[in-house]
Amino acid sequence: MNVEISIAEHFFSDISNRLLEEDTANIPEVICAGLTDYLSHAQVQRMSLFRITKDQLFEGAYSVAAPGYSPTSTLGKGIKSPYLDKVSQGTMLIHSGPIEEVFTKDEIELANMKGVIAHAVIPIKVRNHVWGAIACSRFKDHNSWEPVLLERIKTLGQVLAASYERYHFWLALQTQNKELESLSRHLMENQESERRLLSRELHDNFSQRLALLTIKANNVFGIVRDSIKPEAKDLHTHIQQIAIDMQALSRSLHPAMLEDLGLIAALKSEARRITEIKKLELQTLLGDIPELKKEVSLNLYRILQESLNNVIKHSQASAVFLSLEITDDVLTLQILDDGVGCKELLEANKGSIGLVSIRERAQLLNGTADFISPDEGGFVVNITIPTIKEHYE
Ligand SMILES: Nc1ncnc2c1ncn2[C@@H]1O[C@H](COP(=O)(O)OP(=O)(O)OP(=O)(O)O)[C@@H](O)[C@H]1O
Ligand SMILES: [Mg+2]
Repeated sequence: MNVEISIAEHFFSDISNRLLEEDTANIPEVICAGLTDYLSHAQVQRMSLFRITKDQLFEGAYSVAAPGYSPTSTLGKGIKSPYLDKVSQGTMLIHSGPIEEVFTKDEIELANMKGVIAHAVIPIKVRNHVWGAIACSRFKDHNSWEPVLLERIKTLGQVLAASYERYHFWLALQTQNKELESLSRHLMENQESERRLLSRELHDNFSQRLALLTIKANNVFGIVRDSIKPEAKDLHTHIQQIAIDMQALSRSLHPAMLEDLGLIAALKSEARRITEIKKLELQTLLGDIPELKKEVSLNLYRILQESLNNVIKHSQASAVFLSLEITDDVLTLQILDDGVGCKELLEANKGSIGLVSIRERAQLLNGTADFISPDEGGFVVNITIPTIKEHYE
């Protein structure tokens, strides 16, 4: 049997493909292109696809017209009309003849319909609800509305409506993502300012008092009997050690070093501080990098801190490798350990926020964070920030 593919089938296959393949952001253009291409197939001069909102208002989606004719302009303004009310009840409207007889008295709508000699509005139903409709108008050459044509127009409407919905969900998701991003930026800024406060308090208050205490302990050492001198010495050493640790903590809470000495020095110093806690071997490969904006440096610094804290908490590693490089305008930061790795699904939400916040920080810089736990053990945090030039100071 020789089965030929009809022009209509070609058209539908082509438009479905384009809707599937196109980026979601470009769906409106493809919908309009689909409607425009169908004008000549349907021998109409205007086509519109519109959605009916929950409160029975007509939300304009897209309207196109053949050269010399204009698309409808009132759709999308939430109009209410008795004519279109019928459509929202699922009634197909097929009309030939002077449109003023059946159309609403609304002047703008009437102006829109001026010159129309035949009009068809076909409701599109989704799960027994009227989603909206596809409408076409003829301004010339009208004989009749053929049932096959109306059926095809309806199919086109359904295909386009599905993509329109996909686009709308995507838009809503984009908005939601933007809100989440700004929320997380806000939270991080708050967290940073609290850390700054705490760091200042530690430095200006507790560190000073400890420094004084160290001097007093030293004085006590000088005046006590020889028999208790070892005890006094021990006391002095302990207080001194606490003072040093507190100073380091204050510095890591608010890395003034980042501003004074730059990212590389701050990363090195923090890596040394953390790895010394667990006596881990530390190897670094820190390339030459230009001065980065404060926000960028701070985010990279926090990513390193969390990654190294994780190494200490979870890895049982004996060595850590840290690298930071910029090649071809892409910055890569890698923190790698030789520990036990992690067999669990890293994306599983266990209420922990370390890796989540690493990812968010990378995303704030338009970058990505990958966490890899190879079968042979170890754990890798890979940060990639493209177009790093935008972040140069
Ligand atoms: N270097 C590592 N080696 C082995 N497992 C790791 C390593 N880093 C992270 N993990 C695993 O990934 C999980 C998630 O890490 P994440 O930092 O998000 O949470 P956490 O450290 O447990 O808690 P927190 O919210 O305090 O950071 C860890 O619980 C651990 O199982
Ligand atoms: Mg953690």
